[in-house]
Amino acid sequence: MTTRIIPAREAGQIPAAAGEAAALLRSGEIVALPTETVYGLACDALNAGAAAKVFSAKERPSFDPLIVHVAGAEWVGILAAVSGPAESLVRKLARTFWPGPLTMVLPSKDIVPDLVRSGLPTVALRCSAHPVMAAVVEELGRPVAAPSANRFGRISPVTAQDVMEELGGRIPLVLDGGACRHGLESTIVSVENNRLVLLRPGPVTSEELEEFAPVEPATRSDAGSAPGMLESHYAPGTPLRLWPSGADLPDDAQASGLLAFGAAGPGFARVEVLPSVAADAAPLFFASLRRLDASGVKRIYARELPESGLGRAIMDRLRRASHE
Ligand code: TXA
Ligand code: MG
Repeated sequence: MTTRIIPAREAGQIPAAAGEAAALLRSGEIVALPTETVYGLACDALNAGAAAKVFSAKERPSFDPLIVHVAGAEWVGILAAVSGPAESLVRKLARTFWPGPLTMVLPSKDIVPDLVRSGLPTVALRCSAHPVMAAVVEELGRPVAAPSANRFGRISPVTAQDVMEELGGRIPLVLDGGACRHGLESTIVSVENNRLVLLRPGPVTSEELEEFAPVEPATRSDAGSAPGMLESHYAPGTPLRLWPSGADLPDDAQASGLLAFGAAGPGFARVEVLPSVAADAAPLFFASLRRLDASGVKRIYARELPESGLGRAIMDRLRRASHE
């Protein structure tokens, strides 16, 4: 299959690009497109056959459910059965963070195909702020299921070129909206009555969420209901290890790459230096990891960041990537 790339970087290009994407989605096809977090591989969320193509193109195991992207909060009641104290909490979170990088896991209605939610009783909902994703959802008039547009377990794509590396030849179309603004996947919370369980840290920080409800870390028992918490995830092909400040220079530094924040010392074959402020580093993070991975080094060492704000999300991804 040849994969076409259509430009959708400028406002004037978006209607035509979104029209082509929506036509493909309507016919049960899959399309890669940008969101404000990372690129997604989209399908009609209410078409199980189309969702099956997403799993197959990504080589994603069927136990790992997809995030459903909606046009706005009015879709919550159509796709999810929220009641009791959760109802006002969901309404407040949607009003504050949508459109934006917050995904809410809620009790699902039957309308969402089993395959999309991997047989779970819940569905993950998010409303993207990216003009391209928003235009496609609008044009289709239905919710769009979209996991990150990488092969399973690999680094999430933040440019159309990254998508081509991952899925070129496997999908008919990529909309090129340029680089993603956040560069890290959305924050995922499970809404449980009047508390939130943080299933995946992301651009909406725990500190921001705490304003609305207590935020609890996910425990091991949550992992069964949130398959994305698989320990090894987001992994580059090259083994990655954390290198805390104060630790000795690794023996294999000369054959290794270093991902550093703020400043890097000498001794490594390849170095990627990201800003020391996590919010500035996040948009560049996956691209640096991808370059180190492609550079041919034997191992990647990564420095650590303080675990607050976006630092928590970056450390989450590094820890998963370092799981051997
Ligand atoms: O920023 C994002 O969220 C991007 C863009 C494309 O929207 N999407 C994304 O999708 O990161 P994905 O599939 O790579 O990660 C979604 C995670 C998965 O780890 C999945 O296990 C979890 O969300 N998930 C989906 N539905 C769930 C559910 N019902 N319960 C718990 N976890 C769920
Ligand atoms: Mg992913």
